[in-house]
Amino acid sequence: MKCSLFLLFISLTFSSVLARGGLSGSATTRLLLEENHSQNSNSVDKAKGYMSNYDLEQAVKQFGRRCSNISRIYSNVIKILHYANGVLDWMISIGKSVNGFPLWVMEISDKPGVEEPEPAFKFIGNVHGDEPVGREITLLLANWICDNHMKDPLAKLIVENVHLHILPSLNPDGFALKRRGNANNIDLNRDFPDQFFPMNNDENARQPETRAIMNWLREIHFTASATLHGGALVANYPWDGTQDQRRNYYGCPDDETFKFLASSYSHSHHNMSLSKEFHEGIINGAFWYPIYGGMQDWNYIHGGCLELTLEISDDKWPNANELPTIWEYNKISMLNLVASVVKNGVHGRIFSSDSGRPIPGSITIKGINYTVKAGRAFADYYRLLAPGKKYEVIASVPGYRSKSTIIWLEEATTLDFILDPEETLEGNLLRSICDCSGGVTTKLVWGYYMEICFVLVIIAFLCFLLKRRTIFTLGKPRQSSKRSVMI
Ligand SMILES: *[C@@H]1O[C@H](CO)[C@@H](O)[C@H](O)[C@H]1NC(C)=O
Ligand SMILES: *[C@@H]1O[C@H](CO)[C@@H](O)[C@H](O)[C@H]1NC(C)=O
Ligand SMILES: *[C@@H]1O[C@H](CO)[C@@H](O)[C@H](O)[C@H]1NC(C)=O
Ligand SMILES: *[C@@H]1O[C@H](CO)[C@@H](O)[C@H](O)[C@H]1NC(C)=O
Ligand SMILES: [Zn+2]
Repeated sequence: MKCSLFLLFISLTFSSVLARGGLSGSATTRLLLEENHSQNSNSVDKAKGYMSNYDLEQAVKQFGRRCSNISRIYSNVIKILHYANGVLDWMISIGKSVNGFPLWVMEISDKPGVEEPEPAFKFIGNVHGDEPVGREITLLLANWICDNHMKDPLAKLIVENVHLHILPSLNPDGFALKRRGNANNIDLNRDFPDQFFPMNNDENARQPETRAIMNWLREIHFTASATLHGGALVANYPWDGTQDQRRNYYGCPDDETFKFLASSYSHSHHNMSLSKEFHEGIINGAFWYPIYGGMQDWNYIHGGCLELTLEISDDKWPNANELPTIWEYNKISMLNLVASVVKNGVHGRIFSSDSGRPIPGSITIKGINYTVKAGRAFADYYRLLAPGKKYEVIASVPGYRSKSTIIWLEEATTLDFILDPEETLEGNLLRSICDCSGGVTTKLVWGYYMEICFVLVIIAFLCFLLKRRTIFTLGKPRQSSKRSVMI
């Protein structure tokens, strides 16, 4: 069952790779683009003091070497099976910009790359090429955590309890060109599928950077995230769009949660909350100006991830000597936001009362139309919520009787659920399906899954051949007599 799904995925991938004419860009084009960066006389001043894309790559790798025991470096790569000229091979098809620059990610955790019953958080910088502050301060953040996780309680808490993933630049090509869009001049923050308008629904028309993010979220289950932008000083929260395209306050089901997260950010920032333009330094996206195809709303709807859009500098491209100050202004806010996935809300695990095993299900809150899924391996869930309120938390898993508990939430509350199986035929059936797809299976990389499936398919094929041969051999004596007659 699982295999056939993956085979379907493989065949779908074939067609898309072939239709799009394979890979774009190469290391050489990327270097050429880079080299001209400092030669462009007009913009020398602007980029001065900022890392070039090449510098950024080196900085990420250097961070990985320096902090190897609490980090892992990966370029957001998904392996896919590709068939060309009679050769079937693994290739890397996404996780790079249009011009072939790898989208490097730093993961910070005491067990990087290992799945644990812990929440994941992500920071993404430089979504817009001409807003480069995020790519600089995310590296400062990573290095600061590296230097301080033994002494600073917040850094220690993050390293020990969170998997923090940092993508400093989603749009390296736009940065090299010093413009908002990517190399195809597409605004990546308008390129996601939209809840109201079907403009971006063609998967193949989507930019590689966008697809990289979408695939990344299929691989890693993030609890919350933030993207870093420039041009204002405000914490923006969903929804970003409205159905009628008018500029209106349009809150999502988690409006209270988001207002809490955004306010926490603005209040621990140097002066974001003192804004004259934005009350308390926060704003509902649709009330500010509606956008469609944004990353933030897509994360909340499809990624199960509560995302903020942080505008952290009035000047989109400030002088590089202001970067250390901007970092200082945002430091505590950034750390607090990451830590909020363990310090706020309700979290726990879901178990089966008969086997005692974790059962991946979902958590809902009465009165909030939003479902948070538990992790597949550990059935751990993280439900961010605004504190100071009463909530009814409901755990449900197909084939089990749902349970609910009322809590008064202040600080983070741990709430484990032990669910009883539903003793009906339907319940048994549902449970057996759930056990296959969840249980002890750890979250494997797509590639792994497919490798396994591929091997299984080959084994099945060999079995099939062997069986046929056995039938032939068994059938031979009888056939031989027939044959001799025929000949
Ligand atoms: C970089 O500049 C060189 C000459 O200065 C030019 O020949 C080359 O085409 C430029 N490359 C790109 C990618 O713009
Ligand atoms: C990382 O390495 C340092 C020194 O090399 C060590 O003191 C520290 O305990 C390590 N941290 C983790 C989380 O393993
Ligand atoms: C925040 O502080 C910076 C630097 O002092 C200043 O330029 C900016 O105008 C201030 N913003 C607000 C909203 O107070
Ligand atoms: C809950 O949200 C879904 C979309 O996620 C929507 O289709 C449904 O109508 C909503 N239900 C209520 C009761 O608002
Ligand atoms: Zn922006």
